Amino acid sequence: MRLPTPRGPVTAALFERLTRPPHAFDPPSLGVEDDEDLQLALFVCYEVHYQGFEEVDDAWEWEPSLLAARRTLERWFEEGLARAVPPQKNVEPERLCRALTELVAATEGPPLAAFLERRADPEQFREFVVHRSIYHLKEADPHTWAVPRLRGRAKAALVEIQADEYGGGRRERMHSELFRATMRGLGLDDSYGAYLDRVPAITLATVNLMSLFGLHRRRRGALLGHLAVLETTSSLPNLKYGRGLRRLGGDATACRFYDEHVLADAVHEQIAVHDMCGGLAAAEPALTGDILYGAACALALDALFAGYVLDRWTGGSTSLREPSLVAGGP
Ligand SMILES: [Fe+2]
Ligand SMILES: [Fe+2]
Repeated sequence: MRLPTPRGPVTAALFERLTRPPHAFDPPSLGVEDDEDLQLALFVCYEVHYQGFEEVDDAWEWEPSLLAARRTLERWFEEGLARAVPPQKNVEPERLCRALTELVAATEGPPLAAFLERRADPEQFREFVVHRSIYHLKEADPHTWAVPRLRGRAKAALVEIQADEYGGGRRERMHSELFRATMRGLGLDDSYGAYLDRVPAITLATVNLMSLFGLHRRRRGALLGHLAVLETTSSLPNLKYGRGLRRLGGDATACRFYDEHVLADAVHEQIAVHDMCGGLAAAEPALTGDILYGAACALALDALFAGYVLDRWTGGSTSLREPSLVAGGP
């Protein structure tokens, strides 16, 4: 992947530095907050821990000045989250699973899945896939950071889920590979990060949230709560996405990503809530509030994302940063 196009002064200055050999620089001073500029800057700071960028020296990953810049951006992001999502109190460990389930049940986001099932046109479905590609092409990676930070029941449960996400040892069954097939079926570029320039700040924020929780051991509770929400809010929406794609002419290969999640996540939901989050709550009761906070953040950002996309579509415009997508269709 190559570095994306800067979206403002922070990304412009940061990307210029990253194309040079690692060196010391002062963290950005954040004056006027521009979500597009800052979410992209944070995304790039995180991406050096995943696949990196062609023009960026791998040694930047642990360069203290880049870590300091990342910390400044993370504080901005965490303050925004704190304004949007109220803190969650610790609960008795045996109450945690029920509290998680109640939190999910109490949150009804904008009806994006229903729109995709019944009304979206091919271009809108492609837009949705473009948004989601930022995560699905590295599906499961952000939560894998938690594996060495857990023990016992929670660790075993997380690994059981992740093994499925990574295809149980078979490349063609990796969920990221299934998603690439969906992209190809829609005439989209399936290479990693191909659409980074097209997605708005809210899409980047949903992925930055996972990386924030994933790269900080202190947020391991929030990371597991986040994964539990992904799994518990997956089965039914994926059924709708699959139906929507079939309505638009998608074949079995293109739909397989969604079909797979209908079945797999009905199981993952139980493992994630009871064994993984329940296991962590039993082992570390002081983390129960953060498990719930991570879950609440996941629900809040997903609702903001769905609202943003639906607002754009019902207003007759694109939800992407540029109006035209590559031609093609199912
Ligand atoms: Fe998956
Ligand atoms: Fe899953």
